[in-house]
Amino acid sequence: MSRIDIALRAPERLALQNRLLAIVFEREPKAFPLANQIVGAASLGDSAFAKMLALARQEGAPELFPCVALEPAMHLGIYQAGREKHVSVAQARRILGARIVEHARKLKVQEVLLLLSPEHNDEAVVQLAEGIWLGSYSYGRFKREVAGEPSRAVIVCQDERLRRRLVSRLGEAHKVIAAQNWARDLVNEPPSLLGPSGTVLAARQMARTCGLEIDVFDGRALSRHKYAGILAVGRGADEPPQLVILRYRAKGSKRRRVALVGKGVTFDTGGYCLKQAKDMWHMKGDMAGAAAVFAAMQAIAQLAPPIDVVGIVPLAKNVVDAKAYLPGDVLRMKNGKTVHVTNTDAEGRLLLADGLIRAGEEHAEAIVDIATLTGSVVRALGPAVAGIMGNNSDFTASLIRAGAEVGEHYWELPMLHEYRDELKSHIADVENVGRSPNAGAILGALFLEEFVPQGVPWAHLDIAGPFFVEKQWHCYRPGATGFGVRTLVRWVQTHARHS
Ligand code: BES
Ligand code: ZN
Ligand code: ZN
Repeated sequence: MSRIDIALRAPERLALQNRLLAIVFEREPKAFPLANQIVGAASLGDSAFAKMLALARQEGAPELFPCVALEPAMHLGIYQAGREKHVSVAQARRILGARIVEHARKLKVQEVLLLLSPEHNDEAVVQLAEGIWLGSYSYGRFKREVAGEPSRAVIVCQDERLRRRLVSRLGEAHKVIAAQNWARDLVNEPPSLLGPSGTVLAARQMARTCGLEIDVFDGRALSRHKYAGILAVGRGADEPPQLVILRYRAKGSKRRRVALVGKGVTFDTGGYCLKQAKDMWHMKGDMAGAAAVFAAMQAIAQLAPPIDVVGIVPLAKNVVDAKAYLPGDVLRMKNGKTVHVTNTDAEGRLLLADGLIRAGEEHAEAIVDIATLTGSVVRALGPAVAGIMGNNSDFTASLIRAGAEVGEHYWELPMLHEYRDELKSHIADVENVGRSPNAGAILGALFLEEFVPQGVPWAHLDIAGPFFVEKQWHCYRPGATGFGVRTLVRWVQTHARHS
């Protein structure tokens, strides 16, 4: 969890002792009245401050200036978002936010005072705050010694009207980031602690707190509803598979509804087509799509956009025992199509097929699915960008745009229908994996398209790359990123307003 609160305060009577005073610039560091006033109060003379600023302007200058000799003792940081190369301005601000938290942690200070130069607009403040919240996230459940974390950041701001406006902007932003950090917890949790039934419990608790409706289909209900894909993938596990349906209803609902579908494989061993041992543990995060949908629903419930949203999350553990599904099995799916399972490791698409069918049954006017679907997309795009495909280019573009607005990047891969032949099977309508080892991400999407209700715009986000990072990346520490939450929330908000 992220433990850092961000507050806004007037500059009068600020305590500086044992604080990190972070003076933040977008571009060139130079003195401004509020900085002079506060630095002056710390009995650091104007000329010493001017020297620090001059030093901070130089290439490769340090950001931290120890001022321990001062009375009261404090730490001074001079930061410049523009120093961050190769990323957008928005991303640079988030990265900077995370770095300030990192410094505070290293210095073992409890509180950071943020002095933002006048060039910051509301957007810039929000993005810096996002970086602080995302950067302060850590999964510490199993650590005996938890590193001292800063617990508070105070944005020092003179103008009361501005303070009030920022409190409201930051409040909205925090709802989304808190949800994203919660998604990171779900993904980071060890797989045996959070199987399908544990995940259902977490979803129920969240739904209760946020006022979302929730329906859960367990093994028996899944059989009754003939969700053959979910049942097959979950058959080898000690806990039955589940299908969670979360509903947000807009006030004065106009009966417009969109569906978010998330892949929830709580662990993916590959089944009888077993994965190799190296890095198999990453597959505890094969429910990152599910976590993103749960978290997006949580934020949506709080932000209350004017459109109904249904979150559809199939959950299963892909493991083996005598009852597990086998390569060669044929599944009769609910939309009438039959699937020849040629590889039990291509399980996500079987679950999602049922999720997409359900989205049709819910009469969604638009569908977005999100999944850690293929290793192929990771090889093609790496960890910094997700793949996206869909059946309508304007619709796909609306998701790419939403992602760009919130700093999550997508690259569209072509839905080449000529590759559909790859999925032809001798004994069923389609097989779940093509014979060719190439274009795996595209084949995955082509398979899913078979289950998308006719005429409904649909986009598929393959987040197998960015759902998890092995080393610090942007504002994320190693582990789950919660990638996709912000995109889904922003897309729902925009879609509700515009179409
Ligand atoms: N969960 C994996 C995909 C994955 C790989 C996610 C790496 C995150 C990181 C998925 O179920 C899978 O195993 N896909 C196979 C499909 C293949 C058998 C057609 C893959 O991509 O290798
Ligand atoms: Zn798999
Ligand atoms: Zn998988």
